[in-house]
Amino acid sequence: MPDSKYIGISEDRLHHMLGVARKAYKIALERGHNKTFATKMFVIGWNHDIGYEFSKYQEEHSMVSAAILSNAFYDEGQDLGKNGGSTINAIYSHGLYTEEKTEEWIILNQADMQVDII
Ligand SMILES: [Fe+2]
Repeated sequence: MPDSKYIGISEDRLHHMLGVARKAYKIALERGHNKTFATKMFVIGWNHDIGYEFSKYQEEHSMVSAAILSNAFYDEGQDLGKNGGSTINAIYSHGLYTEEKTEEWIILNQADMQVDII
C-alpha cells in the first residue's frame, strides 16, 4: 500500500507505465535508433510516472519522478552527463512544453500520449 499522504501508483498506472515503456521502445526503433537506445527508452517509459508513488499532487509527479531517479543513480550535485541529463530532463518535462526537445523527450511524449490510462 502506498503512503496515504501520496497519490501512489495504482494498478492502472502500473499498466500505463509498462505500456509506455513498450511503446517508447517501438517508436525508438521506428525512428531509426539502435536497440541500446530503444532499451534506454524502455527504461525511461517504465520509470516516467514513478513519482506518483511519492506525489501529493498530479502536477508534481514528473518532477518527483526525475528527482527520485536522479537521486537513485547520481550523487548529489554530480553532473548527469549528456546521456543521464537527457534521460532525467525528458522525465522531468514530460507532458510539459520544453525548449529542449531531445529524442528522449519526443519519444517519451509520443508514447505517453498513445498509451491511455484506464
Ligand atoms: Fe506522467
